[in-house]
Amino acid sequence: MNELAIETLLAQTHGGAEGSVTPPIYQSSLFTFDDFAAFEARMSGQGSRTLYSRVQTPTAAAFEQMMARLENGAAAVGFASGMVAISSTIFALVRPGDRIACIEHVYPDAYRLFEQMLRPWGVEITYHPMTAFNSDPDLLSGVRLAYLESPNSMMMQVMDLRRTAEHAKRHGTLTVVDNSWATPVFQRPLELGIDLVLHSASKYISEHSDTVRASSSRPMS
Ligand SMILES: Cc1ncc(COP(=O)(O)O)c(C=O)c1O
Repeated sequence: MNELAIETLLAQTHGGAEGSVTPPIYQSSLFTFDDFAAFEARMSGQGSRTLYSRVQTPTAAAFEQMMARLENGAAAVGFASGMVAISSTIFALVRPGDRIACIEHVYPDAYRLFEQMLRPWGVEITYHPMTAFNSDPDLLSGVRLAYLESPNSMMMQVMDLRRTAEHAKRHGTLTVVDNSWATPVFQRPLELGIDLVLHSASKYISEHSDTVRASSSRPMS
């Protein structure tokens, strides 16, 4: 559990070097080192200093640390958009022959990813009312990954994530929750036993309709 209240964490997440109120954006693809020895050490895997912007930037790293702290997770990964977070997560965890059990009324572009890319690739996807995830202890038998949103898109239905996580653990099913609507202020799925939490950060995480970004966090082990 986080030792600090979420209001305090949120107040601490702003700011960058020299006391700037928001973290600066680094407009550089490459980052340099003071000498060859420092570069060689970094290339051999020592430390985490920024090398190249596609891999990491200090601003993205600050975002990832903030998301991990807010979700009470061990780590978070930032992506260019929510859909990149969703597809990267699914493609990392699911293989042809696997089955995904998904809630009904999932975010439409996630549905299109499942139907237009994953199904032709050989992944089976089944859709179930939220209530079935909670009430049927064997719904997830033989399922590789449960893909969940609570509240879900458009309908704003909610489910008992703790109970679904308990059922999933019994069947060895991975659980993924898109937490974009609730935000960590109202719901922290990792604390309820969920394996991974996703965000589309163009929603309440950035709030001002001026950002597209995303994160995926995993729990403390
Ligand atoms: C619940 C939810 N998840 C994921 C996404 C996808 O996020 P993005 O538009 O950043 O790719 C959205 C976008 O509207 C969304 O509403």
